[in-house]
Amino acid sequence: MEAPQFSDLNLSPRVLLGPGPSMVSPRVLRAMATPLLGHLDPEFLQLMNEVQQLLRYVFQTQNELTIPVSGTGTAGMEAALCNFIEPGDRVLVAINGYFGERLYEIAGRYGAQVDRLDRPWGEVFDPAEIEAALRGKGYKLLALVHAETSTGALQPQIAEIAAAAHRHGALLVLDTVTSLGGLPVEIDAWGVDIAYSGTQKCLSCPPGLAPLTINAAARDVLRSRKSKVASFYLDLTTLDKYWGKERTYHHTAPITMNYAIREALRMVAEEGLEARFARHRANAELLWAGLEELDMPPFVPLSYRLPTLTTCHLPAGLDDAGGRRRLLEEFNIEVSGGFGPLKGKIWRIGLMGFSSRRENVALLLTALRELTRS
Ligand SMILES: Cc1ncc(COP(=O)(O)O)c(C=O)c1O
Repeated sequence: MEAPQFSDLNLSPRVLLGPGPSMVSPRVLRAMATPLLGHLDPEFLQLMNEVQQLLRYVFQTQNELTIPVSGTGTAGMEAALCNFIEPGDRVLVAINGYFGERLYEIAGRYGAQVDRLDRPWGEVFDPAEIEAALRGKGYKLLALVHAETSTGALQPQIAEIAAAAHRHGALLVLDTVTSLGGLPVEIDAWGVDIAYSGTQKCLSCPPGLAPLTINAAARDVLRSRKSKVASFYLDLTTLDKYWGKERTYHHTAPITMNYAIREALRMVAEEGLEARFARHRANAELLWAGLEELDMPPFVPLSYRLPTLTTCHLPAGLDDAGGRRRLLEEFNIEVSGGFGPLKGKIWRIGLMGFSSRRENVALLLTALRELTRS
């Protein structure tokens, strides 16, 4: 067989304003060029400690078991479920978009008896309706998405939902993939038991790690399992020994990704969470005002609209796929379309992490103005 020959990588300089990945700071890219250490090198072990400390800051938690799981956000979803589910356990998933559906799907694959509580895509839940669904059913877990990337809706009142879960003996699993680092995520103050995220959204690090944190109650459930965790790779009982005191090998840590997340989180800490949230909010408001002017109003009501990911209606006469292709080809801007029931009805515009910049909003609005005129 002949060896395939390709040219050097020469890709277009895209402005990533879709639902992820977001753009990555040159600082993070530089950190990724650092020569490798071994995954048990004392200097790498120190770096792991720093990553954990930084993750506790961004999650606003004292949870000891706070780690970057190897893999993208979906690995975080699987880890958050498979470690706590034993065959036959009852799980409730509140579903108001695509990623709620995915939680439902994953919980079933790990042998849970899963029930669903549905709301139309784009809406959010009232804690009282969740509490009503929890009553008398003996659920071990309640899972839901904080920031639904498929709809642009932000679930409010997480503390009330966590309290309801606890009143009925369930742990709360929270998806913070599109909120962590861009919006308040208060794991301890809200009483969230298990939360996971991804690196490629508001943390502005390439995709490849899934920050995860679990509290003492979740750890007790993990320790008292009767069966082995169904996934070897995501088994927190053994991963804990690598990230905790023992430092025993479980799998080779993705070294370069850990350099990346350390730098990305250092940037979060330097900016400070409050300033970072304010920046995301200000840039989102600028975008919303511009979209209204263009007759592309946001899809989600202001009271529970996500600032990190805006969904907007398409202007009359603009073709969904064709419009996005023109943005990409003529302006190097990536935005995404809707899917599921929102396919062809909305666009999804992300202003996350390093992508959340005033100049990106101005560029996008200029491009959209041109597109909607021609
Ligand atoms: C809310 C939410 N959960 C989970 C995921 C899955 O993450 P990944 O695609 O990184 O595996 C995503 C990805 O977009 C997401 O937006």
